[in-house]
Amino acid sequence: MSKKTFNIVTLPGDGIGPDIVGEAVKVMKRIGEIYGYEFNIIEKRMGGIAIDVDGTSLPQDTIDAALASDAVLLGAVGGPKWDHLTNGDRPEKGLLGIRGALKLYANLRPAVLYPQLKHTSPLKEEIIGDGLDILVVRELTGGMYFGEKANSPAYDTTKPDTWASDLEKYSVFEVERILRKGFEAARKRNKKLCCVHKANVLESSRLWRSVFERVKLEYTDVETSELYVDNAAMQLVRNPRQFDVIVTSNIFGDILTDEASQVAGSIGMLASASLGDGTLGLYEPIHGSAPDIAGKNLANPLATILSVPMLFRYSLGLDKEAKAIEDAVNEVLNAGYRTGDIFNKEKDDPSKKVGTKEMGALVVAALK
Ligand code: IPM
Ligand code: MG
Repeated sequence: MSKKTFNIVTLPGDGIGPDIVGEAVKVMKRIGEIYGYEFNIIEKRMGGIAIDVDGTSLPQDTIDAALASDAVLLGAVGGPKWDHLTNGDRPEKGLLGIRGALKLYANLRPAVLYPQLKHTSPLKEEIIGDGLDILVVRELTGGMYFGEKANSPAYDTTKPDTWASDLEKYSVFEVERILRKGFEAARKRNKKLCCVHKANVLESSRLWRSVFERVKLEYTDVETSELYVDNAAMQLVRNPRQFDVIVTSNIFGDILTDEASQVAGSIGMLASASLGDGTLGLYEPIHGSAPDIAGKNLANPLATILSVPMLFRYSLGLDKEAKAIEDAVNEVLNAGYRTGDIFNKEKDDPSKKVGTKEMGALVVAALK
């Protein structure tokens, strides 16, 4: 009998990207051995590495391969090396481009605090309680990220009347589909959804609010609330446990997910999924490329490894295999193993402080 084959495009990208994607691939391959699947790994370039090799942050060949694949696993892009390019390209442009090209409008970012890592949250224990589990559903292909960009005809930043603008524009269609993703996600969790906007000031947010008020009538089983984004930012540190699912725009989601990731302790633990209407999705750790520690066996591969269960569930329908990876990660954490970013000098055993490769190997060994 031939094994079922899944085509997975990997985009290791820049900095620590190749280090962490390498470990996640080992985890996938081991799952293939245990459960009888073939994971056909197709590595492509995106980001700074693609600028260097192909002359563009997002080669067409990468888009084509991603579109033809079952799922895409991304490491991280960017670094100081590409911060001052004069041709308008940037590693981040590749990331935005692939989100757009694959029509991945829904970004799911769980902020989970593992009980074993409680001490990594900067918040007081009485606020954190027995952990945190928030899901931010961020709109990903609209708003000012993709809205019309403009500059004054004479662009000279030494002149006070020079201007630049990014348009925050949302259609009912765009808002409604992401709100529905939020409601669907809430239904599978604790049935609470908070819509974050700035409707006291922004016209685009008033549209979000009005669509939310209409759509929520169809989800009477979900308890709803709304917060202005500034208040939401405050509530996330004041009382994060009030949240189950948060749904919001591209820019607000970008900011709130960085905040939520800190509240949830190490950013080195958090995975994310970017989805569209079909099963194709792009999965990535939410942290950046950390160029200073690239190739030094110091990065925490767990966020990328934990992106694989999301990939399995949303794109491949492999639920029990997804759970097997999460169980293995839990087992390794329970056994006390820590990479530097989640290592606590007072509480953890120095002999169990491990590097990227060791952490990957421990998870592989713990897979059942
Ligand atoms: C993120 C990142 C990206 C974003 C950058 C790298 C373009 O911050 O995924 O949150 O702003 O969306
Ligand atoms: Mg961000």
